[in-house]
Amino acid sequence: MVKLTLPDRWLEEDLPGWEAEKKTAADLLERVRAGEPKYHGSLGWLHTQSWAGDDALERLSALGAEIRSKAGILVLIGVGGSNNAARSVLQALKPQGMEVLYAGNSLSPHALNELLERIEGRQVFLNCIAKNFETLEPGVAFRVLRLWMERRYGTQEAARRILCTGTPGSSLEELCTRRGYAFLPFPTDIGGRYSALSNVGLLPMAAAGVEITRLVKGARGMEALLWEAPPEENPALLYAAFRDYLSRRGYRVELLSSFEPRLRWFYKWWEQLFAESEGKDGKGIFPVTGEFSEELHSLGQFIQDGFPMLFETFLTVAEPGAGDRLILPADRDTGDGFDYLEGMDLWQVNRTAFSATLQAHGERLPCAVLELPRLEEESLGALFYFFQFACYLSCRLAGVDPFDQPGVEAYKQRMFQGLGRP
Ligand code: PA5
Repeated sequence: MVKLTLPDRWLEEDLPGWEAEKKTAADLLERVRAGEPKYHGSLGWLHTQSWAGDDALERLSALGAEIRSKAGILVLIGVGGSNNAARSVLQALKPQGMEVLYAGNSLSPHALNELLERIEGRQVFLNCIAKNFETLEPGVAFRVLRLWMERRYGTQEAARRILCTGTPGSSLEELCTRRGYAFLPFPTDIGGRYSALSNVGLLPMAAAGVEITRLVKGARGMEALLWEAPPEENPALLYAAFRDYLSRRGYRVELLSSFEPRLRWFYKWWEQLFAESEGKDGKGIFPVTGEFSEELHSLGQFIQDGFPMLFETFLTVAEPGAGDRLILPADRDTGDGFDYLEGMDLWQVNRTAFSATLQAHGERLPCAVLELPRLEEESLGALFYFFQFACYLSCRLAGVDPFDQPGVEAYKQRMFQGLGRP
């Protein structure tokens, strides 16, 4: 199970303030557990059974296997919440089922041309995911790629290789009906960034060979814990209270750091979840990420010595998995100065770098640690549920709506005007 450790020293500086913060969070948790009617239409993710029950998992696993049998490459079209969760799992676990390429997450012609070159001559399947089929990036990519599929396979076979995930009744569903593409519902009661444990995140994961039943098992374990644990032992409540407590004391930036580069895309998922949910009405904590040890050689200077606006959450992995060990070989008398490492496991060297960084940063800024037992399906499922739940609580403590994103409209309106959209 994921384990949270908070830096008591920093919280004890204003112990009555911390106790009051936890009490506020505990009262909120009670209201959340009772069900907040205002957010009813956005809470479909709160009970994993709703969109990731056993039947759904069986169906999605079978559909994933069918996709895998038809193609060597899955092109996943989507942006933000529509593809971040799947990409974070695929990049972390690197399953061997099929190659997944990403489109519709930028407007770069170079990126799309490069993708078209990479799929040339390969067997391809498309999954276009768009909740609101007005977003420009997936809209453009889907047009280019479905026409490429029709040229490549002919209309009938292309239709058998294209599957969309969208809002029932949307123009995307109409397009699917007209062209004969398969269509899966994007849950109407879940927003993009909370959709990891639904058709949106789980289908591409299943197609790529991730054991989605294990992933959802981890999420269910976390769900049970967060619904049952008393406030003092509830990690999501404590993390949300910790964030709010610090933000009210001027710590306006949270750095999520880890010493495992495979978590790079997980950072992006986390960043989107918190930035888009919490940054509104002039409030919120700005989420940034630290990819260590590399960025200790850049961000590290600012973290240790710069303007004190940061707090840090380390995401760490307790046990090595397959491919996580490497014993450093002997090469004596070369004078390279690294003989003292001979025979050490690089896993342990990396852990030592983590402990040293935690110690050094911990002297300067509040540092929490979130430890996963291993980097595997169960842990990632648990993390999705943990962060979604904690984000909901954090937003409510900050006094903002966790589920809307009015700020992203400003640039969109100007862009659509510039492009002459009717
Ligand atoms: O979390 C959200 O709601 C957003 O980040 C969306 O996922 C993102 O904007 C993509 O939206 P859509 O799938 O409607 O194109």
